[in-house]
Formats: sequence, C-alpha cells, structure tokens
Amino acid sequence: MIKNVSIIGLGKLGASMAACLASRGFNVIGVDLSQKAVDALNAGRTPVQETGLTELISNNKERIRATLSHDDAILQSDLSFVIVPTPSDAHGAFSLQYAAYAFEAIGKALAKRAGYHTVVLTSTVLPGSTRYGLLPILEKYSGKKCGKDFGLCYSPEFIALGTVIRDYLNPDFYLIGEFDERSGAALESVNSQVALNHAPSKRMSIENAELAKISLNSYVTLKISFANILADLCERIPGGDVDLVSDAIGMDQRIGRRYLTGGFGYGGPCFPRDNVALNFVGKHLGASTQLLEMNDSYNRTISPRFVEKLKPYLRDGSTVAVLGLAYKPLSHVIEESAGMYLCLTLSAGGFRVIGFDPLATEEARAALRMHALVADTIPSCLQDAECILVTTPDDVFRALKPEDFIGNKESVTVIDFWRCLPESVRHHPAIRYVPMGRCIDDATAISKLDGLWHRDQH
Ligand SMILES: NC(=O)c1ccc[n+]([C@@H]2O[C@H](COP(=O)([O-])OP(=O)(O)OC[C@H]3O[C@@H](n4cnc5c(N)ncnc54)[C@H](O)[C@@H]3O)[C@@H](O)[C@H]2O)c1
Repeated sequence: MIKNVSIIGLGKLGASMAACLASRGFNVIGVDLSQKAVDALNAGRTPVQETGLTELISNNKERIRATLSHDDAILQSDLSFVIVPTPSDAHGAFSLQYAAYAFEAIGKALAKRAGYHTVVLTSTVLPGSTRYGLLPILEKYSGKKCGKDFGLCYSPEFIALGTVIRDYLNPDFYLIGEFDERSGAALESVNSQVALNHAPSKRMSIENAELAKISLNSYVTLKISFANILADLCERIPGGDVDLVSDAIGMDQRIGRRYLTGGFGYGGPCFPRDNVALNFVGKHLGASTQLLEMNDSYNRTISPRFVEKLKPYLRDGSTVAVLGLAYKPLSHVIEESAGMYLCLTLSAGGFRVIGFDPLATEEARAALRMHALVADTIPSCLQDAECILVTTPDDVFRALKPEDFIGNKESVTVIDFWRCLPESVRHHPAIRYVPMGRCIDDATAISKLDGLWHRDQH
C-alpha cells in the first residue's frame, strides 16, 4: 500500500493537499521552486493563507518535509501529485509552461529511479494536455515508457479557496483520468485512505477527465449567471423576490439550490477562466459553444450594469463605500473579483470610491491605487460615504449595526447585493435600504407588467 507521496507545487492548493495527506497518515515530501515555501513548510509554518492550514501543518509536521529537489521527492515516494500553475494565455487556453518544466524535472528523476512510480497531474489543463503535451516530456527525460515503467493520471480536485481542507477531505467524488488500469488503481488506493466520506471514484480516459473538470466549473458559472438573470427579473416584477423563486426551483432535484442565489458576478482564479477555456477548446474543435461565450460576456458586463442601477442613488462625485473586495467571503483573493471591477467602474464614472475587505486589504490597495482608496477599518471606510454597497455576504458585514452605517450622517443609502443585512438595518428610518434582487418600486413594476397585456393599445 502506498504510504510515501510527493506534492510538486506548494501553492494555494498544493500546500493544503500536503497537510491533508499527512493528516491521513501519509509521509509527504513537498517540492517547490520557492525557497520561502520550502522553508516555511520545513519550519512547520504555512506557505499560503488557507482556513485551518496552520493547525493542520503544525499537528502533522513529523510527516511533512519540503525540498527544492524533484529528484529527492520522486526517489523517496511512490506517487506524486503535480499542482503547479497553468495560467491562461491571451487566447483563453492554459499555458503548460510550468507543468512542462515540472514534468522535465520529474522525468529526469524517474530516469534514476528503480521501480514503478505514478505521476498524477492535478493542475487544471485543457483536453489533450496530459497525453499530448506532457507525457512526451516524461518519456523523453526518463528514457522510460508510460504504462510499463511508470503510471500517469489526470486527477483534478474540486475545492474552493477558504474551504480547501474541508473540500479535499470530503469530496463529492474523485475524478480519475487514467493512462491505464494500474495508474488509476494506484491513485484510487491513495484516495481511499484520504477521504473521510467514502467518496466514489469516476474513472475514465485522461481526455474525458480533462473535459469533465473544466465543464463542471463552466456549468456552475452558467447556474450563477442564471440566478443573476432571475434577480434582475425579480427587481422588475411587483413584489418580486429572487430568494423565493430560487428556493422554489432549487427544490427540484434536476436543479438544486446551490449557486442559485442571485447576487453578483462570479470571479476568482477558476470559474471565469475555466468557462473561457471550454469555449476556446470548443471553437478550436468546431463545436458550437456560443452559450459559454455569452455567459462570459454577461458576467464581465455585470459591474457596468450595476452602476447604471445605482445611478438613482448617487450624486455626481458622491463618496461610495464598497464593502467586499475579494471575490468571495473568507478569501484574500481579488483575481477577477466583481467587487474590484465595481470599484474601477465607479471610479471611472467620477465617483469617489473607498473600499474595505476583511482579508484582502493589501492586495486590493495595490490593485486599486490611482483609482480608489482601501480603508484599514470599517468605520474609516464608511465615515464619509453617502452610499454603501455590500458586495459579499461576509459575516463581518452581516453583523454591522445601523449606527455603523449611519455614523455622524443624517441618512445613508445601503445597497445589499446579497440581501444579507439584518432587519435592524433594513428598517432603520435613517437608512434607505435597497436589496438587489427584490422589487422596491411596485408602482413602476405594475405599470410595466400591465403594459405587457395591453400592447395593442400602445
Ligand atoms: N486555487 C484554486 O482554487 C484551484 C482550484 C482547483 C484547481 N486549481 C489548479 O491548481 C493549479 C495550481 O493552482 P494554485 O492556486 O495552487 O497555484 P499557486 O500559484 O498558488 O501555486 C503553485 C505553486 O507551484 C510552484 N511551482 C511552479 N513550478 C514548479 C515546479 N516546476 N516545481 C515545483 N513547484 C513549482 C510555485 O512556486 C507555487 O508555489 C492550477 O492549475 C489551478 O488552476 C487551483
């Protein structure tokens, strides 16, 4: 039974996987090109920020070590997970530059290794990348044959930043793209010792697994956009309330309630780019993927559309506070964040913008310099704001009291993108509370809806 594994790439996903595998009794060797990451792990510290990771590393440090040497790791382990970056290129495809470099180093190490070793690519890649882009590198530098001397799988994880450890240890299923039966069996035996929940495996060809990974994320983005369309519709229907509609249709087993809460656009390091990549592959192969392209453009234009909706609440040059700059709560990641795009759009529209985020202060400040201020505290963010936008349903914002919003002002407008603020804020006389996704002007909505039935008279 495999007990020694390597993790190649100790970033946002790899560092948590290393700690999780060690917590389940594996001896883990982490490899990174960054001396800082290697030193951190060897000192029992976390190289990246992730919920619960500090404790997990510190509680299992006797089974984790890190090195700069791929040789060291491959020679001392029977299975390696490769989790290096695969950044998007200008066409929306994923670059294999880092993965190719890692596979070259692994190939050179395999050349020196006696006995079978299984290489598992976990990074997100496009269909065809593993077999046609990377396997030739492994065979070239090892001088060995896949299937005979070593095994190969493509097996991505379905985790979300902020809950990586929980998601990794309790997966809905394992997706295993296998070069052959032996490679898949090696990985399945490791997985069966990791999951806390007896998750089933879906084993298939490498190419089907590559497609399944980006399809899953792309499908979720469609669902999010659909929920955002519903929210927009509900604002225009008398008494409209997107949560009631989503709760109802989410009861249907064909749909399900998750990711169906109309709010704001999707963002982060995976969703937008996986959707774009699936469209890229489809176009290249001649499939009709316009729906994916439209979804991406719908999501990318969500900030300007919201700014249009906000205009009735803003004066020229108003000070606007944006609470929530990371792409979701409990994250410091601002990549493709709808809140960040909103700040930039408002600033370009001539408004004075000041943002706050519980975790992403430094990242947001660097990215927004010249466009918007980023406050260190909520009171300093809200102090001068006539209009306050709550763009993520963060518990820190849910806990705010009416006085926090009002401060020394006579009145304030609060726009709640996720309808997450408490009753006390919703009904305070000095707060004009605007929940997105609900109708707040029944009279106009009635006249428009009524007009639908009297089109001939107009
Ligand atoms: N972050 C996520 O939420 C997430 C979720 C699912 C899938 N993924 C995929 O996982 C992959 C990694 O993502 P991440 O967010 O962990 O990236 P990251 O940038 O946080 O970490 C990557 C790490 O790999 C290291 N590295 C690069 N080349 C290396 C090499 N040759 N040898 C050893 N180490 C090397 C880097 O120094 C870095 O520490 C990507 O393909 C990503 O799409 C990420």
